[in-house]
Amino acid sequence: MSADPTSLYSRKNPFSAKLAANRKLTGSGSAKDTRHFEIDLSGSGMNYEVGDSLGVFPKNNSALVQELLGVLGLSGEEMVVDTNGQPVSLREALTRFYVLTEMDKKLLAAIAEKEPAAAKFTAMVAPEGKADLEAYFYGREVIDVLLEYPAAKFTAEEFVKVLRKLQPRLYSIASSQKANPDSVHLAVAAVRYESQGRKREGVCSTFLTDRAETGPVPIFVHSAKHFRVPEDLSTPVIMVGPGTGIAPFRAFLQERKMTGATGKNWLFFGDQKAATDFLYRDELEAYQAEGVLHELSLAFSRDQAEKIYVQHRMIEQAAELYAWLEAGAYFYVCGDASRMAKDVDTALHQVVEKAGGKSPEEATAYVEELKKSKRYRKDVY
Ligand SMILES: Cc1cc2nc3c(=O)[nH]c(=O)nc-3n(C[C@H](O)[C@H](O)[C@H](O)COP(=O)(O)OP(=O)(O)OC[C@H]3O[C@@H](n4cnc5c(N)ncnc54)[C@H](O)[C@@H]3O)c2cc1C
Ligand SMILES: NC(=O)c1ccc[n+]([C@@H]2O[C@H](COP(=O)([O-])OP(=O)(O)OC[C@H]3O[C@@H](n4cnc5c(N)ncnc54)[C@H](OP(=O)(O)O)[C@@H]3O)[C@@H](O)[C@H]2O)c1
Repeated sequence: MSADPTSLYSRKNPFSAKLAANRKLTGSGSAKDTRHFEIDLSGSGMNYEVGDSLGVFPKNNSALVQELLGVLGLSGEEMVVDTNGQPVSLREALTRFYVLTEMDKKLLAAIAEKEPAAAKFTAMVAPEGKADLEAYFYGREVIDVLLEYPAAKFTAEEFVKVLRKLQPRLYSIASSQKANPDSVHLAVAAVRYESQGRKREGVCSTFLTDRAETGPVPIFVHSAKHFRVPEDLSTPVIMVGPGTGIAPFRAFLQERKMTGATGKNWLFFGDQKAATDFLYRDELEAYQAEGVLHELSLAFSRDQAEKIYVQHRMIEQAAELYAWLEAGAYFYVCGDASRMAKDVDTALHQVVEKAGGKSPEEATAYVEELKKSKRYRKDVY
């Protein structure tokens, strides 16, 4: 997977884009804050295909940077080198180049050297201390260990040397460039949680949500050739995308409409509550009315006592789903990799067994054949 070779811009040379829209997709009362973003590509010459992801370089929260500087007793004006070896102020380095929300063991080793009370870290950073180290890292950020050992003093230069490099995050592109020549859209869930009694936030999802309106958003296209729409426009498409997993399928529907694809489209979408978490509801209903979206199967997990997930809807509609597969449909999955994608895979096997009258072994062979012929495509994270 690489960047568009025709573009000037890449991960090494990102385009400084402007955020053109930031709109809440979740309603008031939702447990989540999921947003629709539009990023302006005017003048960039950047091209993307549906299925691709967008790389975004985030900035850390300035309040967190200020708090760290306070604990370190530094002004932020001190000069250090960034992760490319260029001179920058410490404030700039902590804002744009280094990870503040996860610790590296180099930080613990340095604190153990500076502060006898932190001697336990010496054993933790040794290979035998791996389990203790992981337990200590869980739910802790750089600020926590500095607050725990305030007597461990760092110069600006020493401090950045024990931090990790801040990496860009990828987001599934939620638009087709055929419908939006000068912009790229995303659907992003803001990561916010509490640990060790403090409010925490994911760096990039909250950068887009809270801090991107005033400055440039450095971006690049991450190509995903394995996740394209079928070239043959008459091929039917089944899309399973709960939560933010819907993002690439919004792009697919835009693309299939623009190209006049005659193959039918079926979307399985799910989230917590229909009233507040039915992402892109108006658009999906309009696609249904226009005849672009032929089947929409919904699974709202928290609208009733028992959990209902997308895979339950797949099983309920096994006969029709199997008929679509037999008619040559491609099967796409996007969203949570840890549980959802595995459960959807299990459900797909059950559909083939139940509706296709196959043994578990035959169903496995059928799904393997879907994979081999590149008709079973996943983009999960
Ligand atoms: C190909 C691809 C496509 C993607 N598409 C999308 C998309 O369309 N939309 C989208 O929203 N995301 C998408 N993601 C995920 C996205 O890249 C980021 O991982 C996500 O936004 C979180 O990044 P962050 O910088 O906000 O959080 P980070 O700063 O990376 O923090 C996340 C980390 O916080 C910790 N954490 C989170 N919750 C808790 C908790 N309750 N308790 C303790 N620790 C916790 C975990 O360690 C977690 O790894 C995609 C990922 C990939 C790889
Ligand atoms: N900070 C927060 O408040 C918060 C809240 C949610 C998610 N997140 C994180 O944000 C990221 C994006 O989340 P998201 O909005 O895309 O949605 P998500 O968390 O993937 O949830 C989307 C839908 O999938 C359901 N689901 C849960 N387990 C499933 C499974 N095994 N199979 C099928 N469906 C399943 C969820 O139900 P249930 O949740 O009812 O089980 C929900 O209805 C995830 O990494 C998630 O961990 C953060």
